[in-house]
Amino acid sequence: MAKTCLGLDLGSIAIKVAQVKMGRGGSVQLTAFGVEPVLPDAIVDGTIMNQGAVVDALRTLVTRLGLKQKEVALAISGHSVIIKKIFVPAMTEAELEEQIPWEAEQHIPFDKNDVEIDYQLLTGKNPQGQAEVLLVAAKKEVVRDYTAVAREAQLNPVVVDIAAFAVQNAYEAAYQAPGPGETVVLINIGASLSNLNILLGGSSAFTRDVATGGGAFTDEIKRQMNISHDDAEGIKYSATEGRTTPQVDRLLTQIGDQMAGEFSKSLDFFLASHPETRVSRIVLSGGGAHIVSLHHAIARRAHVEVEVMDPFRKMTVADPARLDPAFLQAHAPQAAVVVGLALRTPGDKFQ
Ligand SMILES: Nc1ncnc2c1ncn2[C@@H]1O[C@H](COP(=O)(O)OP(=O)(O)OP(=O)(O)O)[C@@H](O)[C@H]1O
Ligand SMILES: [Mg+2]
Repeated sequence: MAKTCLGLDLGSIAIKVAQVKMGRGGSVQLTAFGVEPVLPDAIVDGTIMNQGAVVDALRTLVTRLGLKQKEVALAISGHSVIIKKIFVPAMTEAELEEQIPWEAEQHIPFDKNDVEIDYQLLTGKNPQGQAEVLLVAAKKEVVRDYTAVAREAQLNPVVVDIAAFAVQNAYEAAYQAPGPGETVVLINIGASLSNLNILLGGSSAFTRDVATGGGAFTDEIKRQMNISHDDAEGIKYSATEGRTTPQVDRLLTQIGDQMAGEFSKSLDFFLASHPETRVSRIVLSGGGAHIVSLHHAIARRAHVEVEVMDPFRKMTVADPARLDPAFLQAHAPQAAVVVGLALRTPGDKFQ
């Protein structure tokens, strides 16, 4: 049975940790899951600004959950990551390995000394018979900062994934991979960053990180109602539970529309180059997936119902006395990235 990693999602609002155990016949057991808030501004737009605060929160969480496993899989996202699909002449794996740095130089707008490059040979071919390759470049500085947090907390980072791909991994494990010709749009809505991943058939056809998320709702409620950040956050959570006012509803609808417009831009960009494609499903995850006005706005623009991902859907829970089912249910959308990471095996590549 494949050995998995401890999933570690360093979010700007909350750190999430998840651990699973693979059973016979593909069954998966959830052995640990926890969420720990991080100090505001400790992580800003995917960059770690206050390492000590993030390490403290992680240590607290690992101790609270009594975790002994050291190997972790973590994810990065945002503007320090570039993902591109390119075509290269048919060649052997060894030749490709040698060729990649040159290809990267042409396709990646960062200095090659500043980035880690990874790639994966895909099954696609263009009409000229060239092979499709998924190229990923990540700023070394950011990879170093994220792995340093894990090491400072006495953990051993063995997989560095991309958030959008971790969400895809969680989706494919909890539901089924899209069938041929099926298009599934995954949107993981964090606090300040949203990861979009469009699956065409069985693989990712388009990814984009959009610099918006649940925090935009809080900021606007705070600004328009002239209240503190914490009060605004409280009002937003109450609205999720159905306790709201016409003024709050109006604000949530307004921001929901704006945000759905941002996501539509990316979706339209993809659809323009895939005119034969119809979106079959839109699946939301991340804490922002709780916001109902956003569901309505996205559904209205795309003419497709939106669903909320439950990455725990097919899992059994090792010890329900320790892992409260109500807690899991409440945090299920927020757990998409971390569950996708927990399902990685050491040495795994993205996708
Ligand atoms: N029940 C809820 N109702 C409304 N909003 C919620 C709820 N739960 C979480 N959120 C919002 O979701 C966001 C946090 O989601 P998530 O944990 O996915 O973000 P993160 O991973 O910490 O952030 P990022 O990925 O942007 O760094 C916050 O804006 C939070 O207010
Ligand atoms: Mg996140």
